[in-house]
Amino acid sequence: MKKIILLALGLLVLSCAKHINQSQNTTKESNSLQTVFKNQFYVGAALNERQIKGSDTKGNRILEKEFNTISPENCMKWMFLQPKPNVFDFKMADKYVALGEKINAHIIGHTLVWHSQLAAFMKEEQDSAQMASYIHNHIQTVVSRYKGKIGTWDVVNEALKENGDLRQSVFLNVLGEGYLSQAFKWAAQYDPNAKLMYNDYNICHPKKRAGVVRLVKQLQADGARIDGVGIQAHWDLKKPSIQQIEETILTYAALGVQVSFTELDISVLPNPWELVGAEVSQNFEKYIGDKTMDPYSKGLPDQVQDALAARYQELFKLFVKHQDKIDRVTFWGISDKNSWLNDFPIKQRTNYPLLFDRNYQPKKAYSSLLELQ
Ligand code: XIL
Repeated sequence: MKKIILLALGLLVLSCAKHINQSQNTTKESNSLQTVFKNQFYVGAALNERQIKGSDTKGNRILEKEFNTISPENCMKWMFLQPKPNVFDFKMADKYVALGEKINAHIIGHTLVWHSQLAAFMKEEQDSAQMASYIHNHIQTVVSRYKGKIGTWDVVNEALKENGDLRQSVFLNVLGEGYLSQAFKWAAQYDPNAKLMYNDYNICHPKKRAGVVRLVKQLQADGARIDGVGIQAHWDLKKPSIQQIEETILTYAALGVQVSFTELDISVLPNPWELVGAEVSQNFEKYIGDKTMDPYSKGLPDQVQDALAARYQELFKLFVKHQDKIDRVTFWGISDKNSWLNDFPIKQRTNYPLLFDRNYQPKKAYSSLLELQ
């Protein structure tokens, strides 16, 4: 009898151990950014062409496991979608949207009205009626095509200068400031259910932040619907401060719009002092090959790796604290290997701004976020 009881007990212990083991494994498997922050906000990544085509095997695996929203890094920009008047090329954009549907992600459209990566014919247009009709046609064609599929549009990107005034873009110069509310109205008309955003960089800085506040209020006064402000979040290890980011979240939320962090990456490299935010037209050729500007080409020292992990963790703690105001946090890429920050603002550097390293392995920064579970 004793023997039987002992045997039964033994079996019980074994089966429990197996169970515990299994459930530990399952938790390990299912732990991911999208599950950790599931009840708080979307977590996403911008996709390059290889990922959109599904040919970045490792990157695509990470995408499916970790992220529940996607952004197009380049393929939906005007110069690619409509290079010539009324000549549209939707090949890559269609693939991007199909991928988003396949993996059941919230799909972002980026971006409708932006002075950079714009088609040449738009940059040259001087006639206001013609330019307005080009913008109308672009928004109508693109937004209608993906109606009900693209959940959120960056309607206007980077319309402000560093001092908060409107940027002297080709749109402002030819059309005057009315182009801003007109663009939002057209976007709302062609997909009434899509969320509409204004997106920009350096907008935690008080002066530019005040410019965003004026812009959002103006749109609202004009009867244009704006649902969110996208803070690009091309940041570094120290700036902007947590306090400044928190003030910014509160300031925008007080306007009745949601806040998103749309292009998050943390540069660990020194920047040329002349650099102005993320203005993509800047390129500092004279620094190419300058080792003092590219100190980690042979690897990232542990202390910088730790600082990056700590920075990401404090940022996400803040995002979690304000989860009721935050819709989405999107990283501008999946692995360090393909980050645009290897080539911006200085070409051919080795930067480490994301959560996955050049071999697609999770970095300490990644675990620092999973710890927030
Ligand atoms: C960047 C892309 O990552 C690069 O591949 C491209 O060469 C330039 O544009 N702000 C934006 C993004 O809104 O569209 C930019 O993306 C980065 C800055």
